[in-house]
Amino acid sequence: MGEEVRLFSDRLVDEIDSLIRSCRGVFGYISKAAICKSLGEQELFLFYRDGHVAGFIRFHHRRDGQTTVYEIAVLESYRGVGIGRWLLSKLLVDCEARGQHKIVAKCPADLPSNDWWRWMGFTCVGTIEGKRDINIWEKKLT
Ligand SMILES: CC(C)(COP(=O)(O)OP(=O)(O)OC[C@H]1O[C@@H](n2cnc3c(N)ncnc32)[C@H](O)[C@@H]1OP(=O)(O)O)[C@@H](O)C(=O)NCCC(=O)NCCS
Repeated sequence: MGEEVRLFSDRLVDEIDSLIRSCRGVFGYISKAAICKSLGEQELFLFYRDGHVAGFIRFHHRRDGQTTVYEIAVLESYRGVGIGRWLLSKLLVDCEARGQHKIVAKCPADLPSNDWWRWMGFTCVGTIEGKRDINIWEKKLT
């Protein structure tokens, strides 16, 4: 469905950065250095369409077998056509190849994307209460 991009450039990092910024009220500040690091460590997958980044997932494979999703986002005009599912399925394949045993994602409780995590087969295992409550979503891998 998507195209793999192995080389990355400043323009690519800028596009990911502007996609993050376009999701107002969803993510905190993410530095371009953090994006570069994730790209370099192959802990960021892209959905690249029409010469542009239309979606991405950034994550970290912990050595204890947990994979943590830092962000997933799809450009608004491309949402609802399966790109988020495709990005997650790429991550699942990567996790299985590495023998990871679970994927964990955190999502502010007030966002509609909580329903998406449930729809993707994740279970809400807790909520961190604070100024903004954060749900913890988990999927066990066999
Ligand atoms: C969450 C997000 C990444 C989903 O990506 P997407 O490409 O729109 O999702 P998909 O098209 O792959 O959705 C797959 C399925 O989930 C369903 N779905 C999509 N968004 C949903 C939502 N908000 N609630 C419930 N179901 C949803 C779709 O209907 C689809 O179902 P189907 O395949 O059975 O028909 C996207 O909406 C987004 O970028 N949101 C803003 C950023 C954000 O909130 N990120 C998560 C922060 S925790």
